[in-house]
Amino acid sequence: MRFKNKVGIITGSSRGIGRATAIELCQQGAKIVLNGRSHVQLLKTRDELLAMGFEVIALQGDVTSMADCEYVVAETIKVFGQLDFLINNGSSTMNESFENIEPAIYQNVLCSNALGAVLPTMAALPYLKQSKGSILFISSLAGLHGMPSASAYSSGKMALTALWQSLKIELSHTGIHFGICYLGFTENDAEKKMLTADGTLIPVPNRPAYLVKSQKQVAQLIAKSIYYRKSRRVISFVGKLAAFLFRFFPKLALLIMIKSQQRGAEKIQSTQAVLEMSKRKIKTA
Ligand SMILES: NC(=O)c1ccc[n+]([C@@H]2O[C@H](COP(=O)([O-])OP(=O)(O)OC[C@H]3O[C@@H](n4cnc5c(N)ncnc54)[C@H](OP(=O)(O)O)[C@@H]3O)[C@@H](O)[C@H]2O)c1
Repeated sequence: MRFKNKVGIITGSSRGIGRATAIELCQQGAKIVLNGRSHVQLLKTRDELLAMGFEVIALQGDVTSMADCEYVVAETIKVFGQLDFLINNGSSTMNESFENIEPAIYQNVLCSNALGAVLPTMAALPYLKQSKGSILFISSLAGLHGMPSASAYSSGKMALTALWQSLKIELSHTGIHFGICYLGFTENDAEKKMLTADGTLIPVPNRPAYLVKSQKQVAQLIAKSIYYRKSRRVISFVGKLAAFLFRFFPKLALLIMIKSQQRGAEKIQSTQAVLEMSKRKIKTA
């Protein structure tokens, strides 16, 4: 019961890793504030966690709205009377070529990842100063190096590194712990969606199983990062290897990424060619 009598807000905890982290922290004694934009999904998760016997409340809010963030923090204090940690987790993702993305969609992804951690932090800061609590930023391997077809997401995640570094120095006198976790591929909810260039939502493609960590494993490491007040954590073997390569062999890392992108593009082209051929065959038959 490492988190007995501790209260935490996890942004974007109606689904996925945020939800798994809420369960993990509740199992360790925490009282958790669940958050997300979709009211239906939020209440479904709240009811599920209440049925498990956990102490949770659900507060709807968009992390890119200051008014929503202030509401979530104010309600947390009203209900629980304290705040001990904030996990900046909620964000949108996309996988699209830079040239095709509509500016408004780019802005949406960039904002949800960057500003979506700034605003909850601003709202929670006065209470975390009182508790000398923790603020954890959930980043990605895309926050260690720009990834192809993910420039909006990568830019947003990299902004978290700057924010974390600045606050760690600027607010060192407050006693608040600032941590960042760079996650590698993690198991997705079956219904997880990502944005396309024009803003429609599509299912996230499957990733090789051997590269994927379970949500529970990741949630446990996130909980440990708060408990041990870890400053920086890269959660994935591939991530650690990539971080090493990016740092000490940047040219080699770039070459590997360009080659693997070319292979990916060739695969897509040959699949499209096969599809075109079979369409033509069907037409002529
Ligand atoms: N899954 C991975 O492989 C992976 C890898 C590296 C890093 N990460 C990071 O881990 C975090 C969680 O990822 P996930 O896979 O669990 O994603 P997910 O399944 O899509 O869940 C995202 C959560 O964030 C909420 N959300 C999205 N935009 C929001 C906004 N503007 N305001 C408030 N809530 C918002 C969603 O609810 P609503 O849509 O209802 O708002 C949902 O609860 C993200 O920061 C992601 O970048 C994930």
